[in-house]
Amino acid sequence: MNDHHIKTVLSESREFPPPEAFQSRAHIQSMEAYETLWKASCDDPERFWGEQAKNLLHWQEDFTQVLDWKAPYARWFDGGKLNVSENCLDRHLDKLGDKPAIIWEGEPGDKATYTYRELHQAVCRCANALSDMGIQAGDTVSLYMPMIPELAIAVLACARIGAIHSVVFAGFSAEALAERNRDASAKLVITADALWRRGNELALKDTVDEALRIYDKVDKVLVVRRTGRSINWDSGRDHWWHDTVEKANADHKAQGFPSEQALFILYTSGSTGKPKGILHTSAGYLLGTTLSSRYIFDLKDDDVYWCTADVGWITGHSYVVYGPLSNGATIFMYEGAPDFPHQGRFWELIERYKISIFYTAPTAIRAFMKWGEDAIEPFDLSSLRLLGTVGEPINPEAWMWFRETIGKDKCPIVDTWWQTETGSIMISPLPGATPTVPGTATKPFFGIQPDIVDQDGQSLADNQGGYLVIRKPWPSMLRTIHGDSERYEKTYWSHFKSLYFTGDGARRDEKGNFWIMGRIDDVLNVAGHRLSTMEIESALVSHPHVAEAAVVGKADDVKGQAIACFVTLHDHELGDPALNQSLKDHVVQHIGALARPETIIFTKALPKTRSGKIMRRLLRDVAAGEEAQGDMTTLEDSSILEDLKESSA
Ligand code: WT7
Repeated sequence: MNDHHIKTVLSESREFPPPEAFQSRAHIQSMEAYETLWKASCDDPERFWGEQAKNLLHWQEDFTQVLDWKAPYARWFDGGKLNVSENCLDRHLDKLGDKPAIIWEGEPGDKATYTYRELHQAVCRCANALSDMGIQAGDTVSLYMPMIPELAIAVLACARIGAIHSVVFAGFSAEALAERNRDASAKLVITADALWRRGNELALKDTVDEALRIYDKVDKVLVVRRTGRSINWDSGRDHWWHDTVEKANADHKAQGFPSEQALFILYTSGSTGKPKGILHTSAGYLLGTTLSSRYIFDLKDDDVYWCTADVGWITGHSYVVYGPLSNGATIFMYEGAPDFPHQGRFWELIERYKISIFYTAPTAIRAFMKWGEDAIEPFDLSSLRLLGTVGEPINPEAWMWFRETIGKDKCPIVDTWWQTETGSIMISPLPGATPTVPGTATKPFFGIQPDIVDQDGQSLADNQGGYLVIRKPWPSMLRTIHGDSERYEKTYWSHFKSLYFTGDGARRDEKGNFWIMGRIDDVLNVAGHRLSTMEIESALVSHPHVAEAAVVGKADDVKGQAIACFVTLHDHELGDPALNQSLKDHVVQHIGALARPETIIFTKALPKTRSGKIMRRLLRDVAAGEEAQGDMTTLEDSSILEDLKESSA
C-alpha cells in the first residue's frame, strides 16, 4: 500500500447511509438492530451459535455441546450429525425444486441452467459414481477444473459422501498441483480436457498428466469433456465424466456425518515457501457461510446472485457454492475472463441474467475503471441492488466509481474482510443497516470479536494502527493446517496468547469502523491472490543460474501489488534479457501464471544486514523507484545500494 492510499484513507469522511428503498426490505434495517444482535451474540457466543445452528441448518442428529475449546483447537457442535450437501440441496426440494440453483454461461456463450431438482440429481449421480470408483468418507479428492457447473457438482458430491475436496485453482502449474496432491494424499483428480480463456484452450488434462508423473500415487482421473480437444488417455486410470457420472444412479441417500467431519482442504500461501493446507470441517463452516450469506448479501427469494470468484479460492467455496446454495439462492456462474470477447462482458451478463447481487474484487474494479465507461454504457444494469468487494483493501476512488458507475448511487456496497482461514466473512457492513464509508470494511459480523492490539497483545485506542486479531473462536474457523499442527499453532496462535492473529495490520476509528491496512508478513496480494515472497524466491533459486533471490511487492494500479524480483547469478555476466525472460517462465512453470514476475532485476549482491538478513524494506523502495528511506546503518555494504539503483534504472 502506498502513502497516497494511506493519506486518502485517513482523510476519508464521506458517509453513505443505506438507500431507503433497500433498507425497507432488508433483513436487518437499523444500526440499533445490528448492535443489539451483535452485542447479544458476543455476550454469550455459545448460546448465539447454538441457536443459529438449530435455526439455519438441518440436522440428522442434534448436537449435545456447542463448543469444546481447548485452545487453539475447537470442536463445534459435538454429538451432532448432518450432511452438508443435503443442507444445500435436498432440504430445498419441496419448496424450491423448480427454482434455478445454478445459471451458467461459458466463455464462448454456451448456456446451462440447473434447477435445485436437477442439481440434486446431478450431485447424487456424481456421489454414486465417486463411491463406485472407490472413494470413501475421509478420502481426499483433488479438483482441477474450469468454472463449469460440474465443478460445483463435484464439490457437493464429495461433501455428500464425506470425502474431502481439495480444489486447486486451474491457473496453478503441474508442479503446484503435484505438490498439493502429495500433501493431501489425493486418491482421485477430477479435471476437464481444457477450459476456455480468452478464446484459447488451457489444456488442463495435459497438466494433470504431468502432475501425475511428478506424484503418481493418484489412482484415478475423472475427466469432463469441455472443449473437445484431443487428449492423452490412460485407459487404466482415466474415466470420462459422461461415461461414469452421467450414467450413474440418481438416487442417493445423504448420510449424516459428525459435525467435525473434514469438509475440505484449501491451499494458501503463508510466509514460508510451502503452501498451507487450510482444513475446514462441516457443520461450523456451513453455519458461518449460511448465516453470513443471508445477512451480508441480504438474500431474498428472487435474487440472482453473482460472485465472480473462481471456486479455486475460498471466496468461491464459501460464496459461490456453500453459502448461497444452503440459503436456496439462485447463483450465476461464468467460465471466462471479464474482457473477452469485449470489455463489457460482465455488464452484458448482468443485463442478460438480471443479476441483482454482484460480488467482485477491487483489482477487477480497477480494471473496469481503466477500460472506461464506453464498455458499460450499452448495458442495462438496473437489476442490481447490492454490490460487494473482497480480497484486498479497496481504495476510495475505486469504491466511489463502483458505487456511482455500476451501482448508480442506489446500491449499497459491502466491503467484506475475511480470509481463507476464517472460512466466512468476519468484518462487513450489513447493507440495510450500516452507514458505509469508502475504504473501510466497517463492523464485525455477528458472533465475531475483532480487535487491534500492539505487539504485546494489548488493545489499542481508536485510530492507532496495530495488529488485527480475533478474540474468540468462531464456528467457521480453520481447524488446523493439514499435516502440520505445529505450524497452525505457530502461525495463528503464538504471537498473542489466546488471540487469533490474522497477519493483517489495521486500525479502528472512533465510530468503530475497521480499516484494514494489509499484510504485515511476507505475503503479497497480487490481483487479490495471496502469494508468499518465499515461494517465489524458492522457485527462482531452483534455476541453475540463480544464486540468490529476494522478492518484494511493488504498487500496481490494477493488481494492487506486482511482483518485483532481485536476483544474483552465479555468473553475473549472464544477466541478459533472454535470461530475464526465462526466469519469469521458470516461476510460472513452478507456481503458475498468477505468479509471473513483473520485473526481474539482476544485481551483483543483495543488501543485507550485518547479521545476514535481506533488507526488504530497502528493496521495496528501490522497486518503487523511490529514494531508499530509513535507517541504513545496519547495511553491511553500502555500495550495494548504488549498484541496485543502477541495475533497476
Ligand atoms: C487476505 C486474505 C477472503 C477472500 C479473499 C482473499 C486481504 C481480504 C479484504 C478486505 C482489506 C482484505 C487481507 C486478508 N483481504 N479481504 N475487504 N479489505 N483486505 O482470501 O487469499 O485468504 O487472503 O486478503 O490481507 O488477510 P485470502
